[in-house]
Amino acid sequence: MSSNTVSLNDAEHSAQLPLVEGTLGPACIDIAELYKDTGHFTYDPGFAATAACKSAITYIDGDKGVLLYRGYPIEQLAEKSSFLEVAYLLLEGELPGAAQFGAFEDQVTHHTMMHEAVKNFLHGFHYDAHPMAMLCASIASLSAFYHDTNDNGDPAQRKLAAIRLIAKMPTLAAAAYRYSIGWPIRYPRNNLEYVTRFLHMLFEVPSEPLNLNPVAAKALDLLFILHADHEQNASTSTVRMVGSTGANPYASVAAGIAALWGPAHGGANEAVLKMLAEIGDAKNVDKAVARAKDKDSGFRLMGFGHRVYKNFDPRAKIIREMTHKVLGELGVSDPLLDVALKLEEAALKDDYFISHKLYPNVDFYSGIIYKALKIPTSMFTVMFAIARTAGWIAHWIEQHETRDARIGRPRQVYTGAVQRDYVGMEKR
Ligand code: ACO
Repeated sequence: MSSNTVSLNDAEHSAQLPLVEGTLGPACIDIAELYKDTGHFTYDPGFAATAACKSAITYIDGDKGVLLYRGYPIEQLAEKSSFLEVAYLLLEGELPGAAQFGAFEDQVTHHTMMHEAVKNFLHGFHYDAHPMAMLCASIASLSAFYHDTNDNGDPAQRKLAAIRLIAKMPTLAAAAYRYSIGWPIRYPRNNLEYVTRFLHMLFEVPSEPLNLNPVAAKALDLLFILHADHEQNASTSTVRMVGSTGANPYASVAAGIAALWGPAHGGANEAVLKMLAEIGDAKNVDKAVARAKDKDSGFRLMGFGHRVYKNFDPRAKIIREMTHKVLGELGVSDPLLDVALKLEEAALKDDYFISHKLYPNVDFYSGIIYKALKIPTSMFTVMFAIARTAGWIAHWIEQHETRDARIGRPRQVYTGAVQRDYVGMEKR
């Protein structure tokens, strides 16, 4: 093996596979020519060791617990930035100057309205529809409203679609929630900034002004920063897969929302709260831990484990500290927090969780904060979707700027019947 190739040999073939280097992280073996050279595919279910693209947006070192957006550590962004600035950073690659940020904020603010017909669309849902179902469908429906941003080859249209998605996601999310509880939809107010505007759309009733605690807006802004991107996670990979076919940005992001919904991904925050409520009391924690270790139980500790982080999730560390602060500042005491703390303590000293490198992930604590902010459980994953929209659309744009982008088309190990002849029904 030379320094920049890896050789792979079987009885009949020998292939020299080039190594692809990034700016950080391990080099990857380029296997694009492997089938041609050797007649073999590679097998990697769940993409545990496969890079599907080159990306300059987010970097994760799972062993060291490092997360960088465009090179900036998540800890610094969490402390000093805002969600909208982070969205700009993810999209543009650099932190904005004051004028650039002002222009970006202005554009986002002036694209927050939704077409009135989208309201009719939402009203077609049954009153108890899950807000993720409504969000996924209504974001996909935007494809039908904005034909002017469906030319993926035009950078200006791509940018306009990004602005629209970041701007309208909170409007649609709040509308979905209000429809489900029978409140009139609240229009976005342009004199408020992004997160505060969203909280007003979510909670303000026509009969009285909303007294919003600034702690709530600050906490939600921080949660949005932490959830804004996470390189090639399941939902972002889905956005890229759908985007690779040339599908429009709204359809691609709607697919990302669908992927996020599952409890193994963004649906975990909702699942964590349900699990903590089921455990109910700190004294039941040991039983829950024992059940999670029993493979036959089919039960996992929600909010624990991560495909990439094998030491700690840096976002979970930030949220953990913040949870105590926010609950204290809002004057909320939540018995579920005691259950969560006991569960974390029990799992962190348990051999099974230690040997499997299972640590609390970002969503272990986020639900407790959402609950303290009076955000209903069914909206937790929607919160995640609002934040991750910035990352999804940044990846979708990056994909369309990449010269060597190809349609995503994995191969398989076929395990079905070998070729056989059709037998008429009378003989079966
Ligand atoms: N509780 C108990 N055991 C677990 C857990 C858990 N939460 N997570 C993983 N394990 C065990 C598995 O049973 C398996 O054990 P084994 O090797 O003895 O068979 C081992 O750890 C590896 O698990 P995999 O499912 O192969 O790990 P993978 O990397 O594919 O999955 C995932 C990662 C999906 C996050 C998993 O840890 C999980 O299901 N966690 C709970 C759901 C959750 O919190 N998801 C949110 C992820 S973060 C995010 O999307 C924002």
